[in-house]
Amino acid sequence: MGKALIVYASRSGGTKRLAQMLADEIKAQGKEVEVKPVAKIKSKDELKGYDAYLFGSATYHGSMIQAMKKMLFMAEGAGLGGKPGAAFGLYGWSGEAPKRIYDTMKNIFKMEMVGDPLRVKTGELGNPDVKKKIEEIAKEIAKRI
Ligand SMILES: Cc1cc2nc3c(=O)[nH]c(=O)nc-3n(C[C@H](O)[C@H](O)[C@H](O)COP(=O)(O)O)c2cc1C
Repeated sequence: MGKALIVYASRSGGTKRLAQMLADEIKAQGKEVEVKPVAKIKSKDELKGYDAYLFGSATYHGSMIQAMKKMLFMAEGAGLGGKPGAAFGLYGWSGEAPKRIYDTMKNIFKMEMVGDPLRVKTGELGNPDVKKKIEEIAKEIAKRI
């Protein structure tokens, strides 16, 4: 059975909640998922052994959270090429982080990205459109693993 890894960077808990919602949907599709805060990933070896990867960060000062940047540099050597991937995060008004993560996963790691970067505005996690997008990403990830 396929297993996905979700790694998130969140300051006030919104992106953490989104990570959990993605995990619940992937599990509902019958796949295994591990959800980890970015601080738990201390070496590239801890990224190995999964079939799909979802990385997320909230946007602060026009950027992803620093710890996620560090993790992406580490992930460069983790052999993620060809694996399915997705990027997500909460934001207030500009929301750069999910797209930056998505572009790195696609262009540097050469991953097979699913859908578009999932950007969710603060307070919108309960929105039915957001729920639909979460389901779409989870189904596509589950289909590929
Ligand atoms: C100091 C500060 C800076 C922020 N900078 C941005 C920003 O540049 N662009 C943006 O879209 N949101 C910005 N936000 C809003 C956060 O992205 C938003 O509150 C988000 O929901 C936080 O997600 P989290 O709960 O996962 O930490 C900022 C918030 C704070 C407190």
